[in-house]
Amino acid sequence: MKKNKLLAALVNYGEDQISYLNQVVKELKSFKKYEVTIIVNSNIPLDISGIDRVNVIELPDYQLLPLTCRQVIWDYKDDFDVFLFGENDMLFKEHHIDKHIEYTEFLPDNRIAGFLHYEEDHTGKHFVAMHSGFDWDYGSVEEHNGKQFAYFSCLHQATLIITKDQLHKIGKQHDFTKFFGKSQYSSKCQVGTDIFEFCNMKKLICISEFEDNIIQHLPIKYIYHKHDHSGEVMSGPESVMREQVNKLLNTKNNMKVNTITSYEGLAEHLIDSGVTMLWKELFDLPIRNFQKISSVDGDIVECGVWRGGCSIFLSLLFNDKNIWCCDSYEGFQPLDKTTYDFDGERHTPAFSHCALGPLAISLDEVKQNFEDYGLLGDGRIQFLKGFVNETLPTAKIEKISILRLDVDSYSATLDILDNLYPKVQPGGFIIFDDANLTESFEAIKHFLIRENLPLELHNPYTDEIYSISNGPVVETNSGFHSNSYIIKK
Ligand SMILES: C[S@@+](CC[C@H](N)C(=O)[O-])C[C@H]1O[C@@H](n2cnc3c(N)ncnc32)[C@H](O)[C@@H]1O
Repeated sequence: MKKNKLLAALVNYGEDQISYLNQVVKELKSFKKYEVTIIVNSNIPLDISGIDRVNVIELPDYQLLPLTCRQVIWDYKDDFDVFLFGENDMLFKEHHIDKHIEYTEFLPDNRIAGFLHYEEDHTGKHFVAMHSGFDWDYGSVEEHNGKQFAYFSCLHQATLIITKDQLHKIGKQHDFTKFFGKSQYSSKCQVGTDIFEFCNMKKLICISEFEDNIIQHLPIKYIYHKHDHSGEVMSGPESVMREQVNKLLNTKNNMKVNTITSYEGLAEHLIDSGVTMLWKELFDLPIRNFQKISSVDGDIVECGVWRGGCSIFLSLLFNDKNIWCCDSYEGFQPLDKTTYDFDGERHTPAFSHCALGPLAISLDEVKQNFEDYGLLGDGRIQFLKGFVNETLPTAKIEKISILRLDVDSYSATLDILDNLYPKVQPGGFIIFDDANLTESFEAIKHFLIRENLPLELHNPYTDEIYSISNGPVVETNSGFHSNSYIIKK
């Protein structure tokens, strides 16, 4: 069988890591399915068996030595089927190349498979990219060809694998031998990250075959290395990484969300699918306040779920919290059954049917929507069916981190606050979706006064606090913003 031709362009600096380079070269030359050529760009001459050519390069700034490997790759762009770049201490295995070629065959053009790099000592593997707030994007899981892929926000992997086609495509957009743009990564790292940052090819890691997509950095450098400024250790342990990957795999959001790559994209998708009445900017509120809310203990409760869009969004965004979806699943409560009488209640047929459809959506339809976003069967989601004044007094909700009120009425808004406000934990968000409607706003105001709380709300777009004592602030039915919120003290 004809072997694929593989060019390995490696960089070496000085003598300190020659033993690693030896190991890397030996491994590359042991590949069975590839005809491997190894070229090393080094600042010193090398005599290592297995290397096909050494280019001794003297540079005033050795940080730029890795970039010279891109020149090597470009010079041979037509002569090989697949190319790799690596620092002298990155241990490529044959399955890395196999997998890259396999994934490339079915991934869309705007996706490229990549790795995470790790170091290993007697305590196990440690992932170098896990530091300084770099993390998985938990809304990024995509399924391609039956495999799950996800995005990790640190793109650095000290290596690169590209096929000939990918190289030629990149060469049409950029001069491959130079840096593609101003990067957040150092020039040393940028040799590998440019392709992910500037070529409209998002780096994804195959998480359903995670073991095949990690690569060892042979030295033990970062396991105990602390960040100069923060003092934070520059890597994360395998146990944490495994937990995170399992969490990603469990999101199972691989159906409708296949092509969704960000929470903003998810919000747009939910809006376009007609499963939420919220508009795009309103979804920014929980995204922007993600850290704050995540640190609050407790479940997420939405009262007034309609087709489920907002609850679906919150379930995917806060993927380790329980979600309660409380709704009658039959629209407004008949006025003779409500807890509070209020003249301005608009439980009229006209109000029960908006431009997006009827207000009453069956529980089956809502469950189907959750299923479409890969969430049905997720033990975190509970559907509480019934009018809030009947269900909430006995609901087994204990602690709340987000309470979303969206029932478009005076009586039900007060019912929710009466029953659930005490369960909201300090720091928890109470979001009044329909603070823009007079009847709901009057209930909110009544509650704030009754509980001796400040007559203030947070602006949902800026998070700034505004007073409700001085009259309207915006042209809505009530004069106040939809989705205004308070934070429990
Ligand atoms: C404006 S919609 C909710 C919109 C939804 N949050 C979204 O993401 O689009 C109002 C919902 O409140 C529900 N509802 C109204 N009064 C209720 C009550 N007293 N108890 C339970 N649900 C109620 C309706 O069935 C309807 O689904």
